[in-house]
Parts: sequence; C-alpha cells; structure tokens
Amino acid sequence: MSDLNIDWANLKFGYMPTDYNVRCYFRNGAWGEIEVSSEESINIHMAATCLHYGQEAFEGLKAYRCKDGKIRIFRMEANAERLQSTCRGILMPELSTEKFCEMIKKVVKLNERFIPPYESGASLYIRPLLIGTGAQVGVHPANEYLFVVFVTPVGPYFKGGFFANPYVVIREYDRSAPLGTGIYKVGGNYAASLLANKKAHDLGYACEFYLDAKEKKYIDEAGAANFFGIKKKVERRQIPIEELETLEEAGACGTAAVISPISKIDDLEMNKSYVISKDGKPGPISKKLYDKLRGIQYGEEPDVHGWVTVLD
Ligand SMILES: Cc1ncc(COP(=O)(O)O)c(C=O)c1O
Repeated sequence: MSDLNIDWANLKFGYMPTDYNVRCYFRNGAWGEIEVSSEESINIHMAATCLHYGQEAFEGLKAYRCKDGKIRIFRMEANAERLQSTCRGILMPELSTEKFCEMIKKVVKLNERFIPPYESGASLYIRPLLIGTGAQVGVHPANEYLFVVFVTPVGPYFKGGFFANPYVVIREYDRSAPLGTGIYKVGGNYAASLLANKKAHDLGYACEFYLDAKEKKYIDEAGAANFFGIKKKVERRQIPIEELETLEEAGACGTAAVISPISKIDDLEMNKSYVISKDGKPGPISKKLYDKLRGIQYGEEPDVHGWVTVLD
C-alpha cells in the first residue's frame, strides 16, 4: 500500500505529480521504444505543430484499486481505438492498440503507490497525450510526434460527489462544427468550450449544456461529458431539447463524470426551465446505473462486455 501522505478522501479533480510517465517518439516514419521518465516537463521545438496548428490528441481513462486487492483499468482498448480514430482525423500516425495498452499498464504499475485506496472513492486518472513535435511553419502535418502518458490521483469531477447538478443551455457558442473535429478528441474542441463553461459558472450553474451546432434543436453534450435521459426503453438517438420535459431522470456520464445526475437544465434565452429532479436528489435509476457502473469498474459486478483489464 501507499506510503504517501495524501488526503485521499478529499482529492480534487486536479493534477498532482507522481513518480513516472512513459513516452514514445515517432521519428523517421516509425514509433520507437517505450521510455520511462520522471521528468514532468517536455522539451519541444517552438515551431512544433501542436503549438501552432493544434495537432494534438488526448485520452482519459482510470485505474481503480479494488476491494479484492486487484488493480483494474476500465475500457483501455476502447480508448486506444478512439485515439486511432482521432489520429486519422487530424493526420497523425496511429499508435497500435498493443503499444497503447502496454504503455498504460506500465505507467499504472510504475505509479502504483498513487492509486487511491478502495475506501476513498478516488481513482487514478490516466492521461495519454499525442502531439505533433516536428517543426513546421506551413499548415502541414508534422513529421515527428511524441506520445506521453502520465497519471494523477483524482477525486470526483463535481464537488460534493453524487448529487444532482444544475446545467444551463448555452446557445451563443458552438462546441464544434457539424463536419469539424467534434467527433475527435482534440484539444481545440476544449479551447472552444472554455468561454461557454465560464459563462455557465458565472451564472451559478455547475456546467454548460450544448445543443447541436447546425440547428440548435437537439441535445449535443453535457459539458465535457455524455448525456443520458431515462425513459422506458433503451435507445441511442438524437433528442430534441423539448423532450427533456418528458424525462424521468437525466445525467452526465463519462470517465470523469461517472454518472452525475442533472437536477435541471435552464434554457434562459427561451425562458424555459426543464426541472428534472424537484428535490435536487439523484433519481433511483441514476443511482442504480451508478452502482452498476462502479460495480463493473471495481470487479464487483460481472464484466460481460470485456471492459475491464486486471493488472498482473
Ligand atoms: C466532450 C466530451 N464528451 C464526452 C466525454 C465522455 O467520454 P468518455 O465516456 O470516454 O469518458 C468526455 C470526456 O472527457 C468529453 O470531454
């Protein structure tokens, strides 16, 4: 177990240094060997494409210290595949699933003492980052890249943990263009969301809520998380904003958000407030979903989809 003096139960969703990160360089048309580093900074050329033209991609996943003493990583292969898709989207060299997974497992093992104890409810956030490092002034893909994975222990995404949060529809900014980079996990999408997020916080909301950029008619995303609504049957489809009225429960979900229930979504410009939880408490189905998801992540529920990697 850990010899660190960390208040695990009160961790924020923030950065804390750990012992090691792992790196791999793409040069002369090929990925090199995996390198282990204890350096927190990276030294890159001032004309690197990631700095000027946003040629960068990232991922986010978590490792958990479980009740049975094992360490589990959630949906590692799916993250590798999404990174490959991002690479295709912004012309970066793809990293194989095998190499991605090897590096993830290595960095988690190397930083084992930073994986929060089971009882704390905190976890180890894993942040893979792929950047164009080759010098370039014209708008072209780089010829050199760096893939880094670092880890940091994190607490809940929203302060206060599992309770329902208020959201506000932001109509004046688009998260991403319809045929743009919204389907890829690139930093530029997040730079584009900062103003909307600040506006939501300034107005006293937990988070901003996006509608589709083209028609402002359908739900897009719940800030930097996916959206779910509870009705009778399970389906994955576009949801017109007005349909919020008919939902029994709603929430944000994802690696960081886990399952974060939504209490209300205010559409200020339309003078409309969609109240989802009258008492502000999470609904019973959201609670069930939360328990189920956490159960799978911690190895307490069967892993029927093959989502979990047990570290050996
Ligand atoms: C914009 C956005 N949507 C959705 C998600 C949720 O994705 P995932 O389920 O992979 O965590 C994230 C997570 O970072 C995100 O940034």
